[in-house]
Amino acid sequence: MNNGKAKPGHFYAVGVGPGSPDLLTFRAANLIESADIVIAPRSKRSETSLALKTVEHLITSQQVVDHVYAMNRDYTETMKLWNEMAELIIEQSAKGKSIVQITLGDPMVYSTSCYLLKLLHGKLDHENICVVPGISAFQTVASKFGEALTIQEDRMVLMPATNIDQVAEALEHCETLVLYKAGKKIKELADLLKEKDLLENARLVCYAEQGEKEFMAHDILEAADGKHGYMSTVIVYINRQEWKK
Ligand SMILES: C[S@@+](CC[C@H](N)C(=O)[O-])C[C@H]1O[C@@H](n2cnc3c(N)ncnc32)[C@H](O)[C@@H]1O
Repeated sequence: MNNGKAKPGHFYAVGVGPGSPDLLTFRAANLIESADIVIAPRSKRSETSLALKTVEHLITSQQVVDHVYAMNRDYTETMKLWNEMAELIIEQSAKGKSIVQITLGDPMVYSTSCYLLKLLHGKLDHENICVVPGISAFQTVASKFGEALTIQEDRMVLMPATNIDQVAEALEHCETLVLYKAGKKIKELADLLKEKDLLENARLVCYAEQGEKEFMAHDILEAADGKHGYMSTVIVYINRQEWKK
């Protein structure tokens, strides 16, 4: 890892954790601090990148590239943006620059980095592409309530809450269900959980580790007005196993 410093010509997909600077890894901090270029993804709706806010204390002379991406599922528009970003990385890497792309949580979990990494494979030398893990939202959210995600033979499913039929199906196949992107689905989700007698087994955290924005509730209906938005995660504990010897 070159004493932890970003190497010339290398690309790093770096997870910055849930949003609190002290939940960054040392590896992430060293790479961000020493990179020539820091790419910070931001949705069209947000004024600032939450990932960039998490690491702003590490930004000095690095070039910061504000990468605005669409939140919609327009394939052509999204691919155009990803291709532009991949081209920029390839061009700058060829000039010997070190490039870090930061992402909230972990880069391999529902992340903007997943697309970039796919586009870069075969275009940059394999050894010039590095991934640095970060603490994911599902780990952070579980830590807030201090309830274990899994014990013994428990099965855990992680999925978006966007398709309620698929959520209903998943409830039948695991002991722990973690739902990302739950913000707009709270009401529908609460109806489903009520029907299955699981409403009391759900936990919700919005903007975990993001200062005053953090909101947590045992009753997910407290967020039914949708005001806590996109950064909402729900954990449902189903048929929790007891400790067996
Ligand atoms: C595009 S995914 C990013 C996942 C991230 N890469 C990870 O490793 O957790 C966005 C979803 O992650 C969840 N999420 C991310 N950060 C969060 C936080 N600080 N608090 C609660 N949920 C969060 C939300 O469910 C949000 O809709």
